[in-house]
Amino acid sequence: QDDLREPAATNGSAQQQQLPQTIIIGVRKGGTRALLEMLSLHPDVAAAENEVHFFDWEEHYRLGLGWYRSQMPFSWPHQLTVEKTPAYFTSPQVPARVYHMNPAIRLLLIVRDPAERVLSDYTQVFYNHRQKHKPYPSIKEFLVRSDGRLNVDYKALNRSLYHAHLQGWLRFFPLRRIHLVDGDRLIKDPFPEIQKVERFLRLAPQINASNFYFNKTKGFYCLRDSGRDRCLHESKGRAHPQVDPKLLHKLHEYFHEPNKKFFELVGRTFDWH
Ligand code: A3P
Repeated sequence: QDDLREPAATNGSAQQQQLPQTIIIGVRKGGTRALLEMLSLHPDVAAAENEVHFFDWEEHYRLGLGWYRSQMPFSWPHQLTVEKTPAYFTSPQVPARVYHMNPAIRLLLIVRDPAERVLSDYTQVFYNHRQKHKPYPSIKEFLVRSDGRLNVDYKALNRSLYHAHLQGWLRFFPLRRIHLVDGDRLIKDPFPEIQKVERFLRLAPQINASNFYFNKTKGFYCLRDSGRDRCLHESKGRAHPQVDPKLLHKLHEYFHEPNKKFFELVGRTFDWH
């Protein structure tokens, strides 16, 4: 069941579209694009360019696996196809659907300090509104209720409750099928994190330290591939809003217990607040 490479549509050559053998399931704002781009440095990886939203959008899921495959890039039979749709991680209906497609699939989940992820999530929606010239409330208005308490109904907070979402996946997949990428480490020093992904996917070690260089202007690592340098889009690596230290402390406190539960669930810890 590991292999879903046939039957496939062909484009007249030996290249085919294959269902993904690995999916980056999330987490939103965890560094999913960076992970996909970095993994794409590997010659045996073929990545879908856009987020496919097959398992989480009913209008797509209804179209069936044939449609899903038609969204994949053409690839050689020895290549692994990968797609990323960060919304999968927090959509309760998705784990069963992925299992139904391939119970032996390998999943990648990139997580990041949950409080930082909330700020990144807010920033993303803020910019989406700004692009459409629409006003958007300050982060404080989302985070604080009228009685001064933390607004736990804010959706971005819920998306950072990793243990709750992961539990849904663990009902279908053993932990050894889900590789956790440390998103904070991927920012600071991407190569070791990518090496671990190569090993998890049983890919030959082909990505090198020289594929990464720190770009001082961007403040992030960028990619170097066959002499070509490129950084991620300007929407990746944006400044987050200033948050009052007391509020930030509340946010860290709020995640303390959920984080502990997550660490227990995955059998390791992360260097979070
Ligand atoms: P910020 O823009 O909030 O800093 P996603 O692709 O899942 O939306 O995640 C976006 C996040 O990827 C960015 O969040 C950024 O911190 C992180 N990231 C990790 N490595 C990066 C890189 N090399 N270049 C730019 N952003 C990177």
